Amino acid sequence: MLRRLYHTQPDSFAFTPANLAWAEGQITKYPEGRQASAIIALLWRAQEQEGWLSRPAIEYVADMLGMPYIRALEVATFYFMFQLAPVGSVAHIQICGTTSCMICGAEDLMAVCKQKIAPQPFQLSADGKFSWEEVECLGACANAPMAQIGKDYYEDLSQKSLSQIIDDLAAGKVPQPGSQTGRYAAEPASGLTSLTTGNEGRAAHNASVQRAVDLGDTVKRIDGTEVPLTTPWLGKVAGKAAAKAAPAAKAADIPAAPAAQKKPAVLKAARGGKADDLKLIKGVGPKLEALLNSLGFFHFDQVAAWTAEELAWVDQNLEGFKDRATRDNWVAQAKLLASGAETEFSARAKKGGLYDA
Ligand code: FES
Repeated sequence: MLRRLYHTQPDSFAFTPANLAWAEGQITKYPEGRQASAIIALLWRAQEQEGWLSRPAIEYVADMLGMPYIRALEVATFYFMFQLAPVGSVAHIQICGTTSCMICGAEDLMAVCKQKIAPQPFQLSADGKFSWEEVECLGACANAPMAQIGKDYYEDLSQKSLSQIIDDLAAGKVPQPGSQTGRYAAEPASGLTSLTTGNEGRAAHNASVQRAVDLGDTVKRIDGTEVPLTTPWLGKVAGKAAAKAAPAAKAADIPAAPAAQKKPAVLKAARGGKADDLKLIKGVGPKLEALLNSLGFFHFDQVAAWTAEELAWVDQNLEGFKDRATRDNWVAQAKLLASGAETEFSARAKKGGLYDA
């Protein structure tokens, strides 16, 4: 299937403060120079926040990771789990159309979607609340036909039960996931034929359904406030429960208190009208370069001269990219570049045109 960016794009994207903190925590999982490994986690978080991935969201994530836009676009357009067009504000319904589900009635379920939501997949319903698509096997074949809605599976569906689920979602309810015909898990539809004893004390639902029922957020958009920020390796653990559960961070792992700040000397314009290519500093993409220029920084020697206090000021004034200068060690990189030497990244960038996209 051809996967293109949506024809109408929003002007901008930004993580909510809580999602931004979460995303920055994820990036620290990876060693220096390997921050791009966080791309799927961050794109997924952006999608969970907005429901779909817009071009500004993809570029925002690319900037966070110091990646050329084309690399982030490659990931976003390759994986079908990323929605490249707006989806229903309440739910996007993914009907499995592979063999077991097709034999057991997937086409009937899609007929419900066509009638209740929109005639074509990826079309929004008239009220904008729903959208749907056909997907490949979701691995719940024994409970066919099934659909994924939000974060959960709805199994053993019929036209009637799917119709009711859509009505319930529209009414603001969270229908119970799992089998819609009362099966506990994936046992025969006619009942257990083995292991028939010893089940008396079991929970009301199987573990997946129980967890979904406990969370109750099947179709909820994620703004980052739902779960504690768990980056114990940084000593950052939000929420009482998490604080209790997390191992005590070693003193050396805990970031120092914010340093005193001082605004560095800035320029009104590049000397001689020719700015250095700040994108040769790893971690500085086109957006950050523009931001640095707007703050009055155009040359490697300016960055190289930042003191600890000035670095702290810059970090705090990188709107949307806080602490990036320290994290990516811009000063050390700029010292090398200002002296005429290359860094491993600048050599690669010059060779590969990393930021041509
Ligand atoms: S065929 Fe539908 S879940 Fe596998």
